[in-house]
Amino acid sequence: MSTPRSAIVTGANRGIGRAIAERLVADGHRVASIHRSGTLPDGVFSAIGDVTDTESVDAAFTLIEAEQGPTEIVVANAGITRDQLLMRMSDDEFEAVLNTNLGGAFRVARRAVKSMIRARHGRIVLVSSVVGLYGGPGQVNYSASKAGLVGMARSITRELGSRNITANVVAPGFITTDMTNALPEAQQEAYKAAIPAARFGAAEDVAAAISFLSSDDAGYISGAVVPVDGGLGMGH
Ligand SMILES: NC(=O)c1ccc[n+]([C@@H]2O[C@H](COP(=O)([O-])OP(=O)(O)OC[C@H]3O[C@@H](n4cnc5c(N)ncnc54)[C@H](OP(=O)(O)O)[C@@H]3O)[C@@H](O)[C@H]2O)c1
Repeated sequence: MSTPRSAIVTGANRGIGRAIAERLVADGHRVASIHRSGTLPDGVFSAIGDVTDTESVDAAFTLIEAEQGPTEIVVANAGITRDQLLMRMSDDEFEAVLNTNLGGAFRVARRAVKSMIRARHGRIVLVSSVVGLYGGPGQVNYSASKAGLVGMARSITRELGSRNITANVVAPGFITTDMTNALPEAQQEAYKAAIPAARFGAAEDVAAAISFLSSDDAGYISGAVVPVDGGLGMGH
């Protein structure tokens, strides 16, 4: 059992973020979410905010920290896709994905480390994707944003590792959520054929890895990329 901590998960209103927040509550942590819509699981404190907007992120942190104390665990989960073939990809499609997935993680981590440095304790987990290192057709924007998180976590590790702050990346494969349900049936079957586990994962599988990386036991793990992908991306 880990020491109870103050945790923030972005985008806990649905999908993987929701499962992460539920798991951290079950682990005994005080959990809040910065989310822009929807409702949160029981026991999760709500701060409406948009990860593409620095003022909104900073205001949400202030609200949350007044409620549950300085942030010790942060999970940058909020993410979007705007798939398109490279030749047809607009600047808007590229920039929106980079700004949410990579820029959002940056804004959240930047604000979180202010509290973590003072507390001399921090666990930062960035939710990437198998596609970050494996690549995906039609996903130049998305895979670039998710690969960028690896450099971000490793730079945070080098910058703040001596302050008892860890930064790790979790790279889910295909997880059953709104994001994967939106894929055409034939594409879903093709992906399953490529996954050694021969099935999609569950949001709870990702939450379990994040629970561990957020725990006291994971204090000597930093800059790691932890796959939760049924073996799909191994070797990458
Ligand atoms: N599903 C998969 O197979 C899979 C695989 C690998 C990686 N991932 C990654 O896992 C994370 C969660 O994915 P998911 O499948 O749970 O996706 P999802 O069901 O589409 O949920 C995405 C979440 O991000 C939030 N969000 C998006 N833009 C935001 C913004 N600007 N500010 C605040 N919140 C924002 C959404 O809020 P709204 O509800 O308001 O839109 C929602 O809560 C993402 O980073 C995704 O890239 C997913």
